[in-house]
Amino acid sequence: MAIFHRAQKNKQKPRSRILLLAISISVIAFLFIYASWNSTSKFPFPNVKALENVVLYRSHGKPDHTLEKKYLYWGNRIDCPGKHCDSCAGLGHQESSLRCALEEAIFLQRTFVMPSRMCINPIHNKKGILHQPSNASSEERWTESSCAMDSLYDLELISDTVPVILDNSKIWYQVLSTSMKLGARGVAHVEGVSRNDLKEESRYSNLLLINRTASPLSWFMECKDRNNRSTIAIPYSFLPSMAAKKLRRAAEKM
Ligand SMILES: *[C@@H]1O[C@H](CO)[C@@H](O)[C@H](O)[C@H]1NC(C)=O
Ligand SMILES: *[C@@H]1O[C@H](CO)[C@@H](O)[C@H](O)[C@H]1NC(C)=O
Ligand SMILES: *[C@@H]1O[C@H](CO)[C@@H](O)[C@H](O)[C@H]1NC(C)=O
Repeated sequence: MAIFHRAQKNKQKPRSRILLLAISISVIAFLFIYASWNSTSKFPFPNVKALENVVLYRSHGKPDHTLEKKYLYWGNRIDCPGKHCDSCAGLGHQESSLRCALEEAIFLQRTFVMPSRMCINPIHNKKGILHQPSNASSEERWTESSCAMDSLYDLELISDTVPVILDNSKIWYQVLSTSMKLGARGVAHVEGVSRNDLKEESRYSNLLLINRTASPLSWFMECKDRNNRSTIAIPYSFLPSMAAKKLRRAAEKM
């Protein structure tokens, strides 16, 4: 009898173990799926592609203007040097300025609206102006001496750290028209308001778009007065390491 009982017990044990194992696996699988679903829906910095897909998908389906992302706009040019916008500041200076703006976007947890062009190569520029004086407006000269932002930087890669869109993208036009429709509930044009106020005060923090009028002379001025090093979120090497794929490949070949 004793032997029979033991045999029966031995038979049942593996079965219950397998059952237990199966249950644990499905619980873990469920938790895993739940966690990843949860994190994608709450992840604060989705990449631009995903964001664009959402908007494009929506514009094909039902018109839906409830954009759940919030945006920060600093202007359409980095460091326009006053009256002489056609002779732009050096790249290092402009990258410092851009970093300053990106840090604010991180701080405010907003998507940064990047200027679609960046002025570059001032030496080449000056020569061009000296040797062939043209009647082109300063606007035209600036366009000539600037490069498309997405030819300089890998915006998708930047978006892994801080989501960015270009100010000539479909999504930006959609944000603009939505913010106009919402009026004062959609957009604030601010100047000289502190970062903390933009983050903490509900009249700013809930808006779809903050149009922050940065110093046109140098965006970097907005970060100059920071004496708290712990507020620096992006290292100096960040933007150089975000060079567009084409440029990175070219550099590797050299
Ligand atoms: C510049 O303007 C002058 C007269 O205003 C004209 O004669 C000349 O052809 C123009 N040059 C260019 C490059 O457009
Ligand atoms: C942002 O604000 C500035 C100054 O108030 C204004 O000139 C500019 O048109 C605004 N831009 C947008 C996109 O709202
Ligand atoms: C610097 O900033 C951090 C984080 O915002 C804050 O905790 C700290 O108190 C600040 N330090 C000074 C000296 O302001």
